[in-house]
Amino acid sequence: MTDDISYARVKFDAESARTYSQRKNGKHRQEMAMIEDAMRHVQGVTRMLDAPCGVGRAAIWLAQQGINVTGVDLGDAALHLAATLASAAGVQVAFERQDIFDLPYSDKAFDATLCFRLLHHFESPALRSRLINELCRVSGKYVLISRISPVSVTSLRRRLRFLMSGKAIKQYPVSARELHAELARNGFEPVAQTGRFALFHSLQLQVYRKK
Ligand SMILES: C[S@@+](CC[C@H](N)C(=O)[O-])C[C@H]1O[C@@H](n2cnc3c(N)ncnc32)[C@H](O)[C@@H]1O
Repeated sequence: MTDDISYARVKFDAESARTYSQRKNGKHRQEMAMIEDAMRHVQGVTRMLDAPCGVGRAAIWLAQQGINVTGVDLGDAALHLAATLASAAGVQVAFERQDIFDLPYSDKAFDATLCFRLLHHFESPALRSRLINELCRVSGKYVLISRISPVSVTSLRRRLRFLMSGKAIKQYPVSARELHAELARNGFEPVAQTGRFALFHSLQLQVYRKK
């Protein structure tokens, strides 16, 4: 395991950005429902950071709710497609090419930050801490962050497959307890967890509020 930042999952090329924008419809709808549900637990959010924004699906929906959104990603192709989709949807989103580990914004520049479907790509706890510290630094009120639950059937199946066949695990689960502790170190407390029944649906979205 390395504590160096991995950029293997960055969507630099147009093909992977396009494929991501055409995610299975059912899955896409469930994931957007999680974000909508999480947003019911926040108040007074007018400026929001979507990091990473990918092809902008959450950023566009948030902008449609009247929020002033900045979406950041390192993938040029993803950002390009995000801007095209936002314009087609008739909303304004500031899409910027930024590294989530080193954001150029001042402390508490945003009321809330959404970090959806990234944390589980990092195996190293030190790297996860670094990511969370940076998200908390720029968030004045809330952090919404997804994780893969270690006690889901999918996570247990992956672990078993790794033990039996050595097939590499590419998604690294994090318990709610570990995430709560990380956020607490940054002065945030848990407000809600959204997602379907965790035992069968590994992706969960946690909502934290600044204490
Ligand atoms: C699984 S996608 C999720 C995108 C978006 N949150 C969504 O759910 O549609 C992960 C994204 O993280 C971006 N990414 C990976 N490492 C990054 C980094 N260090 N800084 C900014 N973006 C990064 C990738 O380019 C990719 O678009």
